[in-house]
Amino acid sequence: MLLFFSFFSIISYDFKLKYDIIFINFRELIKLNYKGNEKGWVETIVGPMYAGKTEELIRRIKRMEYAHKNYIIFKPNIDDRYSDCEIVSHNKKAMKAIGIDHGSEIKRHLKKDVQAVVIDEVQFFDKSLVKYLKELADNGYRVICAGLDTDFRGLPFGPIGDIMAISESVTKLTAICSCCGEPATKTQRIINGKPAYYNDPIILVGEKESYEARCRNCHIVLTGSEEDDK
Ligand code: ADP
Ligand code: TMP
Ligand code: MG
Ligand code: ZN
Repeated sequence: MLLFFSFFSIISYDFKLKYDIIFINFRELIKLNYKGNEKGWVETIVGPMYAGKTEELIRRIKRMEYAHKNYIIFKPNIDDRYSDCEIVSHNKKAMKAIGIDHGSEIKRHLKKDVQAVVIDEVQFFDKSLVKYLKELADNGYRVICAGLDTDFRGLPFGPIGDIMAISESVTKLTAICSCCGEPATKTQRIINGKPAYYNDPIILVGEKESYEARCRNCHIVLTGSEEDDK
């Protein structure tokens, strides 16, 4: 009798275990289906000018090509330095991109088979971009952003702080300081051979003629505005 009961309890325990596993899997399945079985995320690349942000974007895009993933690249129309339909690095590596003025335009360009959304120069968009990036990730897209973490004054640039906050991964790159050769974390704006003033306009699309990479020690911001010094 005792033998029969122990045999029965082993069988029923075993059945319960299996049942629980089936039940858990079923629950997981419902959960996944409810979420559309999609897992997206946001990864962000930041740093000063010349740090290699656009190069790193291009590297990640090339890896997607090896993985046969479909992607779409955006850039803000305001940045027309090299091209208005490409993202271009300082050493002239380029990839085709769609120029947009506002984050709300992203959705209308998405095709059914796109898995990743890539955006360069995110600092130029307004803060509403954060909402659109979050929506994309929530809907299963891999979102890859690149942009300046700080402006020429060394302060957070546009929506970048919020974008970094909602990102699953943030990569901070450094350039080489043009004064001392140490890693550069800041961008120095130079106007007529002089450091720019704190009150100068934040947006000034440009290149080597107006900007240098600098470390914290060598980075200079003149206080006030040029008018005050006249
Ligand atoms: P970002 O998008 O961050 O401005 P890019 O990817 O467009 O940078 O360009 C990076 C490239 O810039 C480097 O590979 C290098 O060839 C060049 N470069 C020019 N000046 C510097 C510098 N001071 N430090 C590092 N790289 C520099
Ligand atoms: P990059 O990071 O790909 O080199 O491009 C940065 C762009 O941002 C470049 O066009 C210069 C511009 N910019 C500003 O408008 N204001 C700033 O304060 C800084 C540092 C750069
Ligand atoms: Mg760039
Ligand atoms: Zn330095």
